[in-house]
Amino acid sequence: MERTLFLVKPDGLQRGLVGEIISRLEGRGLKLVAMKLMRMEEDQARRHYGEHVDRPFFPGLVEFITSGPLVAMVWEADNAVEIVRGTIGGTDPVSSAPGTIRGDLGVNIGRNLVHGSDSTESAQREISLFFSPQEILDYSRSVDPWITEP
Ligand code: RTP
Ligand code: MG
Repeated sequence: MERTLFLVKPDGLQRGLVGEIISRLEGRGLKLVAMKLMRMEEDQARRHYGEHVDRPFFPGLVEFITSGPLVAMVWEADNAVEIVRGTIGGTDPVSSAPGTIRGDLGVNIGRNLVHGSDSTESAQREISLFFSPQEILDYSRSVDPWITEP
């Protein structure tokens, strides 16, 4: 079963969109297996977004993601990475499709509300930056056979 790291970034929390955003992933049928309200430290943010360290937007990105509380989650499903990225939409809300989180709720690339891991390798690395193995729960739901053909 695949897992992905998902963040409601500080803008999503300040705008009161945490519940709505979580509802979209719950409604899709993914399973929530870890969640915490937290504030990222600068060092953690620099490691999380390490691939972008040389980009001009990097300092602003680190400042923004550490600027206030966020909600970090791990969601689980077959193909969780691709499903969550599709539900999020493109990086820039301006061109994100209606029906996606960014396409419905955002207007600016620097305030795009959410993060989702972009590959299974990124997901593994990112999940370990946010959660210890003990914080990720293993459980079944009686509804699972109605979501995924056994
Ligand atoms: P994220 O990592 O936050 O889920 O976003 P993403 O995969 O869709 O986009 P990525 O390329 O990883 O960029 C990370 C974040 O950097 C900001 N960004 N700004 N001004 C720009 O050209 C620019 N490009 C990227 C965005 O806030 C993006 O979420
Ligand atoms: Mg990314």
